[in-house]
Amino acid sequence: MTEFAERGLTQAFGTDVGLNRPDVETRRIVGQALDAGYRLLDCALLYGSFRSVCAVLKERDLDEDTFIIFKVKPDEVSELKGVFRPLGRGPDLLMLHEMAATTRQTVNAMGELADRVRSGNARYLGLSNVTTVEELQTLCEAAQRFRVPVSCVQNRCSPYYQDTEIRRYCREHGIVYLAYGLMGSRQQGACHGEGHGLPTLYLLPTQDPRLEALARRLQFQDEDRLRQASTGELLLYWASAQGIIPVAFSTHNERVRYNLNASQLSAVTTLRAMELLFSEPRMDGVRATLTRNPPVRALYLSLRDPTAWWLLDEVFRVAGPLLTALAERAGPGSTVALRNMVYNLIRFVGDLQSNDMPWLDTLREEFRQLDTAYRATADADAKRRLFELCYEWMMKDSMAGGGVKEAPERPAEIRRGEYVPDHPVTASGRLANGRSARLVEKPPPVGTLLTLKESDHSTFMKGYDPVLFANLAQHQVYDVNYCGQQPITVRILTTGSRPTARVIEPEE
Ligand SMILES: NC(=O)c1ccc[n+]([C@@H]2O[C@H](COP(=O)([O-])OP(=O)(O)OC[C@H]3O[C@@H](n4cnc5c(N)ncnc54)[C@H](OP(=O)(O)O)[C@@H]3O)[C@@H](O)[C@H]2O)c1
Repeated sequence: MTEFAERGLTQAFGTDVGLNRPDVETRRIVGQALDAGYRLLDCALLYGSFRSVCAVLKERDLDEDTFIIFKVKPDEVSELKGVFRPLGRGPDLLMLHEMAATTRQTVNAMGELADRVRSGNARYLGLSNVTTVEELQTLCEAAQRFRVPVSCVQNRCSPYYQDTEIRRYCREHGIVYLAYGLMGSRQQGACHGEGHGLPTLYLLPTQDPRLEALARRLQFQDEDRLRQASTGELLLYWASAQGIIPVAFSTHNERVRYNLNASQLSAVTTLRAMELLFSEPRMDGVRATLTRNPPVRALYLSLRDPTAWWLLDEVFRVAGPLLTALAERAGPGSTVALRNMVYNLIRFVGDLQSNDMPWLDTLREEFRQLDTAYRATADADAKRRLFELCYEWMMKDSMAGGGVKEAPERPAEIRRGEYVPDHPVTASGRLANGRSARLVEKPPPVGTLLTLKESDHSTFMKGYDPVLFANLAQHQVYDVNYCGQQPITVRILTTGSRPTARVIEPEE
């Protein structure tokens, strides 16, 4: 689909601006987005804002010139009668808002939307919250049979969760990829209930101090004054540089204007700095010393994610003995359990951020207190109990969300010995249930030939030293974090901008 590029539609404005907002507020927010220049609107039956959106479009005589995406859940397809009357035409793109319980149901719902496209009630067909490439491929093939191709996919994506495989599929098949959740969707958001799923989905990049520091270094001229960039603008710029169309919103008049212009930023140094933050973990400082301990090294290597490593560094600085003991208890061989532990740390951070807490200070302080209590307890039984509760907390199912409100109380409960886990302890954590993001369940099997791309395979390690993509050498063996999630070992067969590699046994 080339229409977005041809019409210069670089960003979509999200109209999920709050079901409880008065109509006049919704109109103000959508109106200021249109006045700022947004001509691509992301709407859905679920958002309850479509009538207000249509009224604002009519007021400004922009109903014909604005590209409307309209999302419908599989069980809402029968409710479309009359919905588009206030617009006076069909939407430009009809999108299935989420997958149904079974592929068959999803295909049926998609077929009904395809019927509407074929009969001229919409021009394009799209899918949202697609879970895996296999699922996407199946649905694209079904859409071909309906004689209406899938033109767009809208999934959750941010620098913390880059949805690499689905984006690659879209690129290779001419499907436009739109990303929501770019600024980080708080847990208990409108579309996704409780925040179950991969914890990195719920980190708020707008609150990342590393990104805040980058934003502070960037200034823009705004009429007669210089102003500092915001983290949100950096994220929108990052997305555009990846060929992603962001779907975001702001309720602030000024921000909306700045956000729309962010796609056109020219800040290559900042972009490179962001790539470094999110793609290339480095073994230095505290980490280099800590990782001499085998269980701690295994803890770091269980999730080769630069943000996870940065958070581990922060926690090790204030609670080294406790965290080391927890990693030792899990054992260096239990990669899955250790990864679950790291994910729980990320989950805790996401919970603090969703509570609008000064999260980094709180994180350090809570772990410092836990560590102090662990080291200072003279009573052996009390010490053991504290340790066991900590272990229980860190080993709980990291994919199960919903602890947002209680998050800050948990460490205090552990110190008082009152903590009761609300999810059963698992050794491994659980996969997200059919949401747009989940762990890549199986790494590619031994013998698979891979074509490597820098954007898809972020971290190459030789022993414990990271190796830049450009420095990969032929015949050498590297550990790589496949799709940012699964550790595999590869042997490089050819080098160049898209080297080939074969997956080999780690001990080969
Ligand atoms: N397909 C799906 O299932 C799905 C799910 C969720 C959302 N969506 C779509 O995506 C849209 C966006 O929702 P989202 O959940 O992804 O939220 P988002 O756009 O990532 O985040 C919105 C939040 O970011 C803040 N923000 C905006 N610009 C900023 C900036 N420059 N710096 C710092 N903060 C900034 C806004 O605050 P202020 O208002 O204070 O500026 C707002 O609270 C929705 O409206 C909806 O259309 C789709």
